[in-house]
Amino acid sequence: MKTTKEIVLFLGPPGAGKGTLSHLCVKRLGWVQLSTGNLCREHIAQGTEIGEKIDFAIKSGKLVSDSLIVDMVGQWLSECVTGDQTVVFDGFPRTVPQAEALNELLSKRGDVSLRLVRLTMSDDHLVTRLLSRIICSDKKCQAVYSVHEHSSLKPRKENICDECEGSLVRRSDDEESAIAERLKIYHEHEKRLLSFYKKIGQSICNVEAHQSLEEVYGSFIDMTGYSE
Ligand code: AP5
Ligand code: MG
Repeated sequence: MKTTKEIVLFLGPPGAGKGTLSHLCVKRLGWVQLSTGNLCREHIAQGTEIGEKIDFAIKSGKLVSDSLIVDMVGQWLSECVTGDQTVVFDGFPRTVPQAEALNELLSKRGDVSLRLVRLTMSDDHLVTRLLSRIICSDKKCQAVYSVHEHSSLKPRKENICDECEGSLVRRSDDEESAIAERLKIYHEHEKRLLSFYKKIGQSICNVEAHQSLEEVYGSFIDMTGYSE
């Protein structure tokens, strides 16, 4: 059986920077990242059967069904994770049934430890970030940037991805009504998810996300003790 050293879960509301911080952990710590949102967008772009089923939910800011998401994660874990790797999940689990299913998946993989990191930030700041986000249109890349005037996360060339030279676009769910829906749904589920982990004795490390990316990364490293 394949082994995985550790699974780190980045929890946090839309726009808190889960994808951006995960990407930095891939670059600096050599981790492997799974973003369930990226996986969903890849299905939609490829026009798969799953993509057709979830297109409306994604555009309107609703959650995709637990069973579809859990199947995707299970398949990804068995196909893409090899050896002694640290894996970061960005945006999974989001509901208690997903958290239960993850525990079940991990129990089948032997000795895997779970670490939870929660990014926190006020809704007002989240909305500002989401309205300034652009991402790479190449669904294999999906690198994330900001066009906010004071941001250090702008692309080097306007509208061109630094990593693959793909064109940069807004996400279809980064418009005001879908953002409001995503935030509402996130808050509804977060409470239950946190109670679930508290009940099973799983600790959570809270990181203030309303700081520069280097400061967020620094807080994360200080609190968790990971080293490059
Ligand atoms: P997903 O793609 O996961 O979207 P989300 O949860 O709404 O989170 P975001 O990706 O919007 O935000 P983020 O925290 O990654 O922030 P980012 O790094 O981009 O999911 C999309 C949809 O897929 C869901 O709505 C749902 O339909 C479905 N789905 C996915 N997972 C699911 C699941 N488990 N169950 C059911 N359905 C699921 O950063 C945001 C912006 O801020 C960027 O512009 C970035 O450059 C900037 N930024 C980042 N960090 C900083 C910083 N420190 N300082 C300044 N700017 C920063
Ligand atoms: Mg993301």
